[in-house]
Amino acid sequence: MTDRNRKKRFEVVFTEAEFAVSCKIIRDNETGADKDENIKDNALMEKLCSLHDGFWDFKNTNTRELTHGLHNYPAVMVYPISRNIIRIMNEVAPPTTLLDPFAGSGTVLVEGVIGGIKEIYGNDLNPLAKLMCEVKTNPISGKNLETAYNQLMMAVEYEMACVNYDDKTADYYVSAECGADIAAKDGWATDAPCYLNDYLTQKGVQLSVPEYKNIGYWYKPQVIIDLQIIKNCIAEMPETPEKNFIWLAFSELSRVVSNRRNGEFKMFRMPADKVLSYNPDVKREFIEILKRNIGKMSDFSELCQKNEIAPQISVLSENSINLYGVPDNSVDLVITSPPYGDSRTTVAYGEFCKLSLQWLELDGVSAETVNAVDRNLMGGKKYRNGFEYTLDSETLRLSLEKIKDSDIERAGDVFSFYCDLDEAISAIAKKMKQGGYQFWVVGNRTVKLVNLQTDKILVELSQKYGLTHIHTIDRNIPNKVMPSLNSPTNETGIKAATMTNEHIVILRKQ
Ligand SMILES: C[S@@+](CC[C@H](N)C(=O)[O-])C[C@H]1O[C@@H](n2cnc3c(N)ncnc32)[C@H](O)[C@@H]1O
Repeated sequence: MTDRNRKKRFEVVFTEAEFAVSCKIIRDNETGADKDENIKDNALMEKLCSLHDGFWDFKNTNTRELTHGLHNYPAVMVYPISRNIIRIMNEVAPPTTLLDPFAGSGTVLVEGVIGGIKEIYGNDLNPLAKLMCEVKTNPISGKNLETAYNQLMMAVEYEMACVNYDDKTADYYVSAECGADIAAKDGWATDAPCYLNDYLTQKGVQLSVPEYKNIGYWYKPQVIIDLQIIKNCIAEMPETPEKNFIWLAFSELSRVVSNRRNGEFKMFRMPADKVLSYNPDVKREFIEILKRNIGKMSDFSELCQKNEIAPQISVLSENSINLYGVPDNSVDLVITSPPYGDSRTTVAYGEFCKLSLQWLELDGVSAETVNAVDRNLMGGKKYRNGFEYTLDSETLRLSLEKIKDSDIERAGDVFSFYCDLDEAISAIAKKMKQGGYQFWVVGNRTVKLVNLQTDKILVELSQKYGLTHIHTIDRNIPNKVMPSLNSPTNETGIKAATMTNEHIVILRKQ
């Protein structure tokens, strides 16, 4: 949408004249709670109206400051969006309880902390997202981190010297002595644990080797050895917040030194020649990540200390259609960005985190859980042979009719996603206090050449859960890590631009 159109759309909701009339109507006809809510709506609209065109685009902002930059994650919501929403709400109706039911890497939660909100709930079904949210919102002083870092690196240096005591690397052993092709899909890749156990036995070194499926496909031999040494040293650390901070750095390390193609959130491996020439120095990469992260966490911790911030934070790992861990009628501000669609055809959050989760072996997160993350996220349920349309959105019904004509299975995927969204809207509404505001950042994707207007669908679905639509802001996406092109028909060679803009839908609980 062009700036001019955006302005036009804005004015349709509230021109100055309408604004004055609406204020008068409020004064004349309304009493009690209704009146208070309308005054808040008006104050919110006035603030939004005062912002310049393109305000919400945040084109040249460094979006990785403070703990925002500790770990990569797909489709992150850039922090200035939530920072400005919280700033505006602090001026209009200061919130005491914030919820992000699709918290991902924890951007909204970090901003809630900085914005001085007292009670903060985050939720995400992806176990790695939970770890990220916990670490990023828990301030640790630079001094404590430096101490933990020094102790850990002393142990790592020592253990690495014991295992890598000669020039015969695991890569040399596997390729030169065993004659296996390190870049092939079979051989080394399928039998990695056997090769590594033989290598360690030959050297007379005791080290357990990981046995995850395909580990040899995603890592070179020496990288696996070095990662395992570091992992063992972290596991030996005392149970402190510093340890979780370091686990998160290790998670980032396990992705950086893998054979994955960089800059992608789907699991694609580098081409074979690149795998052969890629020899990351695992210890050096770890030191770099740790130093960078210590700097970011120290800044965050100093800011919290300076502003005397000590919020109560709860991070849940539930399906957002339930949210049992959040008390009913307790939340006065929701800021969230749900997925754009199901994991299979949009962003595969579970796939992105798989290597990390396999290495981390988090408590209560089994191999089955890791493999099932994407299936359990929104839209994971399959409707292969059609479905009965049951949702309260005419816009969605019309879009599904069109998709159904060309592909009944894709229509089923889309229906499945919006069924989950509908249930999530219902669950989130239950958690809201009367008069509480919700800010949903959503994107409208295209399936089979049909544009799914999630911003409109969200507004229509939310009505029956007692949510009033206040306004929708359009924003351009200058720097989100998303594919800029996709194949809307799934036909080779046919591409369409997608997701160059998104919408911030504002709702209020009646
Ligand atoms: C667009 S991302 C959120 C990104 C986040 N705002 C950030 O800045 O990092 C959507 C998140 O929703 C989560 N998710 C998808 N389906 C879910 C469900 N049914 N219950 C809970 N979380 C879910 C995904 O794991 C993903 O982390």
